[in-house]
Amino acid sequence: KKVVLAYSGGLDTSVIARWLQETYNVEVVTFTADIGQGEEVEPARAKAKAMGIKEIYIEDLREEFVRDYVFPMFRANTIYEGEYLLGTSIARPLIAKRLVEIANETGADAISHGATGKGNDQVRFELGAYALKPGIKVIAPWREWDLNSREKLMDYCKQHNIPVDFAKQKTKSPYSMDANLLHISYEGGILEDPWEEAEEGMWRWSVAPEAAPDTPTYITLTYKAGDVVAIDGVDMSPATVLETLNKVGGANGVGRLDIVENRYVGMKSRGCYETPGGTILLKAHRAIESLTLDREVAHLKDALMPKYAEMIYNGYWWSPERKMLQVAIDESQHVVNGEVRVKLYKGNVSVAGRRSEDSLFDGKIATFEDDAGAYNQKDAEGFIKLNALRMRIAAGKGRNLF
Ligand code: ARG
Ligand code: SIN
Repeated sequence: KKVVLAYSGGLDTSVIARWLQETYNVEVVTFTADIGQGEEVEPARAKAKAMGIKEIYIEDLREEFVRDYVFPMFRANTIYEGEYLLGTSIARPLIAKRLVEIANETGADAISHGATGKGNDQVRFELGAYALKPGIKVIAPWREWDLNSREKLMDYCKQHNIPVDFAKQKTKSPYSMDANLLHISYEGGILEDPWEEAEEGMWRWSVAPEAAPDTPTYITLTYKAGDVVAIDGVDMSPATVLETLNKVGGANGVGRLDIVENRYVGMKSRGCYETPGGTILLKAHRAIESLTLDREVAHLKDALMPKYAEMIYNGYWWSPERKMLQVAIDESQHVVNGEVRVKLYKGNVSVAGRRSEDSLFDGKIATFEDDAGAYNQKDAEGFIKLNALRMRIAAGKGRNLF
């Protein structure tokens, strides 16, 4: 019997590894991925070895994460409940996929993770795993054990000889955090009071807008088929694009968010997020689409977007409905090419300019000056009258009288 565990190398998942060995008498395979959380993943190897784990997977998934998950999501201008850029949500399907693939490679019949029974992450991991391997078993220790405090976890470590840096545990952040190349999230602690403002010291990726430089930063993003392929004329891989935007965005105080959101399991929860690069990407992508997309295509995308965001938030990345929408979204992006010049200033992202060889903007038609017959204003008369016809008929019957 074997279980593949999504292992961060931290306290919680180290306890889980040992707990799985003892409670279920299973062989544990650990899987640790670098998805841009900004912490070394290699130390997880020694920690896993110390617990007698023989099969240890440590992988750099940063490019795959941005190329196959973040970028496809941004093609849809995705935001959940009008605000959240889905930084954690979009990373889970990739982890779920690798857990299943590793289970297949190692002959494991179960997976395990460190998400609690109260959150969205358990749903995302498990829906993903079931969608990719119908017979997979799932072990979610947080739903089973009673180690529900930091003290209990530390005691468990002491009793079971799990190597933890106890000094480091004491200085640990009071927040539940999750980071990857797209964002860093903070939940819990004083944030559990939605009226309480987050302390300045909590934020790790961005300066406060008040403390940001007094002169704006301009950058130019080059788009190809809806994805950024270069910044300021320098070609970059997807992960490098996001990394670069995070730095320049964070330095200008861009991308902080403080919200109360609806979790899929039914509760409301308060979360703070820093998504500097993603905030720039959303603004710039809308700008390049504003030139290149047909109006009805753009509006239909906007109408479908909240559905698509919900699918990702709720954990349905690997569902048929999300794949169906993705095909439609991607189909719209062939013409989304060109450049956007963005201005970053004290927490704001604004668009300074946009241009494209695939632009549908026609200055000869749009001009307020003499258009030399490009557009016949007389055509508008009939257009308006026919559009008004049903309302004129109704008004003639006495409706709409006030
Ligand atoms: N509330 C956000 C979401 O559901 C962030 C979750 C953070 N997860 C974590 N394990 N700390 O996407
Ligand atoms: C957790 O409960 O494990 C983190 C928060 C969430 O998944 O929503």
